[in-house]
Amino acid sequence: MPTETDPPQSRPLYQTPGGVAYVGDSLEGMQRYLDDGSVQLFMTSPPFALSRNKEYGNQPSEGYVEWFKDFAAVMWDKLRDDGSLVIDLGGAWNKGSPTRSLYQFKLLLHLCEGFGDRSFFLAQDFYWHNPAKMPLPAQWVNVERIRVKDSVNVIWWLSKSERPKADNRRVLRPYSAAMEQLLEKQSYNGGTRPGGARVNSESCGQRGARARPQRAEPSVARTLAGSPVARSDGSGSVDRDAEEADGKRGSSGLVDLLPPSRHNPVTAPEYR
Ligand SMILES: C[S@@+](CC[C@H](N)C(=O)[O-])C[C@H]1O[C@@H](n2cnc3c(N)ncnc32)[C@H](O)[C@@H]1O
Repeated sequence: MPTETDPPQSRPLYQTPGGVAYVGDSLEGMQRYLDDGSVQLFMTSPPFALSRNKEYGNQPSEGYVEWFKDFAAVMWDKLRDDGSLVIDLGGAWNKGSPTRSLYQFKLLLHLCEGFGDRSFFLAQDFYWHNPAKMPLPAQWVNVERIRVKDSVNVIWWLSKSERPKADNRRVLRPYSAAMEQLLEKQSYNGGTRPGGARVNSESCGQRGARARPQRAEPSVARTLAGSPVARSDGSGSVDRDAEEADGKRGSSGLVDLLPPSRHNPVTAPEYR
């Protein structure tokens, strides 16, 4: 018998030739609509462990792993053996302190080493660099100037097996002009690097394209984590997390500690 506190039952929202979108509580919806062992990929940007809650509710750092475990267990059951779970997580500051929460790393360790029969592999870690995030918390970044702004989300690519379905040839991008030149001349600096790595034609990859680096390009990362939201209130407070204000810069006039770039238009007086 449903009670008032139960989340509303999930339901199909719309359909396209590409599939069906459902709306509702994902924990309930996954169980209702998905068969065990049927899913190739879960990609999720769950609520982060922010110290200041958003409207949709956030989990505190302390209970985060416990809260996420229920979702992870269902996703494990629904995944195919060669399936993947990709989790985008913004970082958080410890409340009232210029120190960072470890919740993303605790979650990773738990899902990979403390989840019993359902333990995942870490297929690869990615880092979404989003220089458009606000330079917050203002107290540490702008007032006391003892921290730089946080502009990176971690993206954990977890898998049920050591060899999940993957093909980096689908995310290749063309060589730079300089690399094309080197290949043309066939005269790149082969041999042993100071760190001991040996560079040869194999380590340079196949001719024509190279694999993407681990740092996702902004266009890829935005697809992973949804569209950034424009914000106009730039007001910073001590415990306001940087990730809370990701997306376009508001009209705060706060000083950005990262150098200006294509993605990071200059607004601070220091840079003019
Ligand atoms: C960190 S936000 C993700 C934001 C999104 N990546 C974006 O950039 O717009 C978390 C989202 O998860 C949703 N959410 C929280 N709990 C949920 C649940 N049990 N089932 C489905 N969605 C949930 C929230 O409403 C919120 O939109």
